Amino acid sequence: MLNEKQKLMQIINLGLEVAQVKDIDLLLERILTEARHFVNADAGSIYIKEDHKLMFSYTQNETLRQKLPAGRKLIYSTFSIPINDKSIAGYVALTGKTLNIENVYKLPEDVSYSFDKRYDEVSEYRTQSMLAFPLKTHRGDVIGVLQLINAQDKNKNIKPFNKEDEPLIMHFANNAAMAVERALMTRAIILRMIRMAELRDPKETGAHVNRVASYSVEIYEAWALKRGISQKEIDKNKDVLRMAAMLHDVGKVAISDVILKKPAKLDMNEIEVMKQHTYLGARLFSDKYSDFDEAASQVALNHHERWDGNGYPGYIDPITVQPISDCRTEKGAVCGKKGEEIPLFGRIVAVADVYDALCSRRAYKEPWDESRILENLHEERGKQFDPEMIDAFFLSLDVIRSAAERYPDK
Ligand code: C2E
Ligand code: SIN
Ligand code: SIN
Ligand code: FE
Ligand code: FE
Repeated sequence: MLNEKQKLMQIINLGLEVAQVKDIDLLLERILTEARHFVNADAGSIYIKEDHKLMFSYTQNETLRQKLPAGRKLIYSTFSIPINDKSIAGYVALTGKTLNIENVYKLPEDVSYSFDKRYDEVSEYRTQSMLAFPLKTHRGDVIGVLQLINAQDKNKNIKPFNKEDEPLIMHFANNAAMAVERALMTRAIILRMIRMAELRDPKETGAHVNRVASYSVEIYEAWALKRGISQKEIDKNKDVLRMAAMLHDVGKVAISDVILKKPAKLDMNEIEVMKQHTYLGARLFSDKYSDFDEAASQVALNHHERWDGNGYPGYIDPITVQPISDCRTEKGAVCGKKGEEIPLFGRIVAVADVYDALCSRRAYKEPWDESRILENLHEERGKQFDPEMIDAFFLSLDVIRSAAERYPDK
């Protein structure tokens, strides 16, 4: 257990650390991890307000996690609940008040809210004590709700949450809310960048890029854990990879609608024009102000390279479009990058992008059955795709499927 001074120090450090994380999904993960450790809670969930509802956005559960095979993650589905006084989270969002509940199965008679037992039933978990508090911005707007579940003593017995921890937790919640607000804004700006291009129906485009980003992060993490890369390094890379992956096709802004939206197969010339979206995208980040620019440029340029060297655009300078290698194919074109010559993030997003493209309806094709898609990915292991990334993809397939459900085409 932490003493008061340690707790304060932890909160100060947390403010700093949380401020550095820019991506919303990773931020929620970090906030919940830190908040749970702070009060020794076995589980917890975060709801984020969206369109006057609360979206169940992220959850952790240590007891359930320990029952999973090593390296597997807890699968959860997103759902929404109304903001009213009937549910615990709804009440907190509505009133902006904190609820410290000793036992959710023994609520006082005079409260309007009740605990929804379905949460426990589907997960075969027993919720008992709960601390639910609002994520409030400095303007006083509630942007979400954080629920901490089952505080534990040293012997892992469940106990109520300490009354004395509430002010510190509120302080923490305020920092977290600010960071969440900023991260939501960053993501909204990226999505707006993509929408401005009017690539397709705005909603569809947003869902595709969010999915490709989620799959990429899962593939990377599975691969990196297998390679023994430290969690700290992994977290840092996940953050930049997610944003870079969202922008993998941003170069399509420069491709004419006639080609982009053609409801049929492209001819040879159109394919050549289409290929430009790789280096045109990379150019947007050529100033390389940050790790993020570096990653975004890497992903845009390399997500259509192939492991066997037959991808595009190959060894060219994205600015001048001049070859940067003497290597030529039989047809005289500049060689594609091959194997590990292709930067890491490019090899990852290649798998994520094709998986999502094949799952989706396009102006020019129907979605494929999943079995056919998986067969195709397996078949292309070591040909189109890095074999290690295909292995990582299959390792994380169940998490990838649940990520897909979070971002449906509207
Ligand atoms: P996208 O639709 O996001 O597809 C990304 C990648 O997924 C494609 O890269 C390809 O590797 C894979 N893919 C998509 N659909 C199929 C398919 O039906 N069969 C197979 N085997 N693979 C598929 P690619 O081919 O370099 O295309 C890049 C982008 O060019 C596509 O992005 C899409 O925007 C456009 N595009 C490609 N082919 C066509 C087409 O025939 N008609 C139209 N209108 N656009 C196309
Ligand atoms: C609620 O009733 O607010 C949800 C309970 C839970 O998430 O465990
Ligand atoms: C979309 O299909 O929704 C976006 C463009 C693409 O990546 O294919
Ligand atoms: Fe692309
Ligand atoms: Fe794509």
